[in-house]
Amino acid sequence: MKVLVTGGAGYIGAHAVRELKKAGDEVVIFDNLIYGHRELAQGERLIVGELENTALLRDVFAEHKFDAVMHFAAFAYVGESVENPSKYYRNNVAATLNLLDAMREAKVNRFIFSSTCATYGEPKEIPIPESHPQNPINPYGASKAMVERILQDYAVAYGLKFVALRYFNAAGADESGEIGEDHNPETHLIPLVLDAALGRRKHITIYGTDYDTPDGTCIRDYIHVTDLANAHVLGLKYLNEGGASDVFNLGNGNGFSVREVIDTARKVTGREIPVVEGARRAGDPAKLIGSAEKAKRVLGWKPKFNHLETIISTAWKWHQKRFAPEVETV
Ligand SMILES: NC(=O)c1ccc[n+]([C@@H]2O[C@H](COP(=O)([O-])OP(=O)(O)OC[C@H]3O[C@@H](n4cnc5c(N)ncnc54)[C@H](O)[C@@H]3O)[C@@H](O)[C@H]2O)c1
Repeated sequence: MKVLVTGGAGYIGAHAVRELKKAGDEVVIFDNLIYGHRELAQGERLIVGELENTALLRDVFAEHKFDAVMHFAAFAYVGESVENPSKYYRNNVAATLNLLDAMREAKVNRFIFSSTCATYGEPKEIPIPESHPQNPINPYGASKAMVERILQDYAVAYGLKFVALRYFNAAGADESGEIGEDHNPETHLIPLVLDAALGRRKHITIYGTDYDTPDGTCIRDYIHVTDLANAHVLGLKYLNEGGASDVFNLGNGNGFSVREVIDTARKVTGREIPVVEGARRAGDPAKLIGSAEKAKRVLGWKPKFNHLETIISTAWKWHQKRFAPEVETV
C-alpha cells in the first residue's frame, strides 16, 4: 500500500508513519511544518506544503498513485479555537475538503481521519460510547464533528470509504525514544509535568482540586501514541478487507487523575515535581473516559502500552533526549 500521511511530521502522524512502515507500507508525508518538525519525518519522503494549495495537492496525487490517505493535519488548540474560530474552520474543515476533493479527482477512496473525543462535548455517560450524542462545546470539536459529517455525505455520494478515529488523550512516545511529543505551545498534561521534572518550568498547576472524583482532580483517558498509531494501520486493513465506513473511539478505558499522573511521573523520573493548586478552568468536565470496545471488537485492536507508568516512561525517555540532551540517562 502507498499511503499519503498528512501531518506526518507532527506528533501522532510521525508515530503512524513508523507503524505503517513496520507493516510494510510505503509512505509519503505532507506537512506544512507549522507545528510539525522535520526531524520527526527523518528518512521519509516529505512534501512541505499547505492543504489549502489545491494545485499542489493535484500534483501530489498525479505523481503518486496512493491507495489511501491518513489525515492527521489540523490545528488542535481548544482555547485558540474559541478565540479564532476562523483559523480552525479554514484549516480543519475547508482544507480537509480540499484534500477530499483532490482524492476524489485522483480516485483515491480510502481515508483514515483523526477525530477527537472533543466532538462529544459534556459527557452524559462514562465510559463514553460512539453512540453518545455529539455536542461539541468549542470550535475545535465542532470542526472535527463537521468533517465527520462531510465524510458520511462523501461516502454516500462519492463512495468514499472512511474510518474516523475519535481519540482521547494521546500520550507517550515511541519505545525507541527517537520520536515523541513536541507541541509549541505545549498544553498537554504529561509533557508539562515532565517539563517541571526537568526544571524547564517551575511547577505544574492543577486546575481544580474539588471535582467529584476520588482525589478531587480531573480524570482523563490517556492512550499511548503507538497504540493509537496501530489502530490506524488496523483501520486501513479493515477498509481494505471491505469493512464499511465507521467511527471508533480510541482510548484506554481507564481514567487517570491529574494527581495520579503527577505521582507516577515522580516515581518514573525520580525527580521533584512542584505543584501549585489553582482554580477550575471553564469547560473542563470532571471525567472523560472513552469506551474503545468497538475498536477492539471490530478492528481487532489490542492496546499494548496502557499502563500509566509505561506511557510516562516512554514519554520521559523522549523528553530528556529532546529537551535536556545533556542529562540523558546512560
Ligand atoms: N494530541 C492529541 O491528544 C489529540 C487528541 C485527539 C485528536 N487529535 C488530532 O490528531 C491529529 C494530530 O494531532 P497531533 O497532536 O499529532 O498534532 P500536531 O500539531 O503535532 O500534528 C499536526 C501536523 O499537521 C500539520 N498541519 C496542520 N495544518 C496543516 C495544513 N493545512 N497543511 C499541511 N500540514 C498541516 C502541522 O504542521 C503538524 O505537523 C490532529 O488532527 C488532532 O486534532 C489529537
